[in-house]
Amino acid sequence: MAIKICGTGSYLPKHRVTNDDLSEIMDTSDEWIQTRTGMKARHLVTEETTTMMSAEAAKLAMEQANVSAEDIDLIIAATISQDYIIPTLSCEVQRELGAKNAVAFDIGAACSGFLFALNTAYSYLKSGQYQTALILGAETLSKMMDWEDRSTCVLFGDGAGAAIVRNMPDEEGIGIESLVQGSDGAKGMVLACKGRPVKNPYVETEEERMSYVTMDGQEVYKFAVRTVPKAVKEAVEKAEVTLDDIDYFVLHQANIRIIESVAKHLHQPIEKFPTNLQECGNISAASVPILLDDINRKGLLKKGNRIVLAGFGAGLTWGAAVLTW
Ligand code: UT7
Repeated sequence: MAIKICGTGSYLPKHRVTNDDLSEIMDTSDEWIQTRTGMKARHLVTEETTTMMSAEAAKLAMEQANVSAEDIDLIIAATISQDYIIPTLSCEVQRELGAKNAVAFDIGAACSGFLFALNTAYSYLKSGQYQTALILGAETLSKMMDWEDRSTCVLFGDGAGAAIVRNMPDEEGIGIESLVQGSDGAKGMVLACKGRPVKNPYVETEEERMSYVTMDGQEVYKFAVRTVPKAVKEAVEKAEVTLDDIDYFVLHQANIRIIESVAKHLHQPIEKFPTNLQECGNISAASVPILLDDINRKGLLKKGNRIVLAGFGAGLTWGAAVLTW
């Protein structure tokens, strides 16, 4: 049996916000954002919800994979910005889709979330426990940002990406060949967002203000350029192929300079690294599946192409996968 991604889908909010739009509401500039990150625009929710965007992305992936809601027996949503703490995003999506045969749960691994969801789905499918999984990376990061902190809020966007992962007969192709993932909780505070303050009859807290994402950009940058090439090499070695065998490297879209640095470290041409951060910004768990859907729907992925997916971010966490389309 081969465990394959059989369909992809994505959804971006209708409201597009350019760097110039941001410079009208805060002290920033198109020049600063583009030079430091490569980003030109991002899409931010106005009426959309994380659930709605996820369900729309899921429907497109299901249609492409020719999978009905009843066929899905596992839903894993990777998110840090679900609409409710409970019910989980995956259960909300289950309801929206009418996927009544599925078991649904969320994974919180921030920007590596889609890779962690893929790894988890792979393990369930490999064990034979489930046959058809819907995995999602979906974020409404605009509600997690401090819009008075220009060093973080300009970097992030909203959106959702989905993939159907199935156990398929061997003749359908190779599918997922290797997966690696890792965490380093010791460095977690360089990219953080506090939970709710404790307030019960026995604890009085002064803290009333909602917490937002804080980031030590340079520390996260250093972590990314150190860790991603290592994780990609490890995944490639585990798959018993070489870097030159890879047609596309689909990386988390945090910064064009990180992507260029990874390409250089791996001695691979930048043309093998598709990007959408120019249009989407960084959408945490949704970046990788939205970009995957993007290149899939543009017809760039041909049957037999070998690709790397890689995510990295808060936790700190990282993950990479090698798969043949
Ligand atoms: O998805 C999770 C993973 N996240 C990442 O991988 C992010 C990794 N880090 C980065 O991509 C970069 O570190 C950033 C894009 C976040 C920042 O780039 P940088 O080159 O490290 O800039 P910096 O933090 O050193 O800021 C330089 C200057 C500061 O001014 P001074 O102190 O030098 O006068 C900031 O105040 O840029 C200023 N600045 C801004 N100026 C205009 C910070 N934000 C802005 C802004 N507009 N939005």
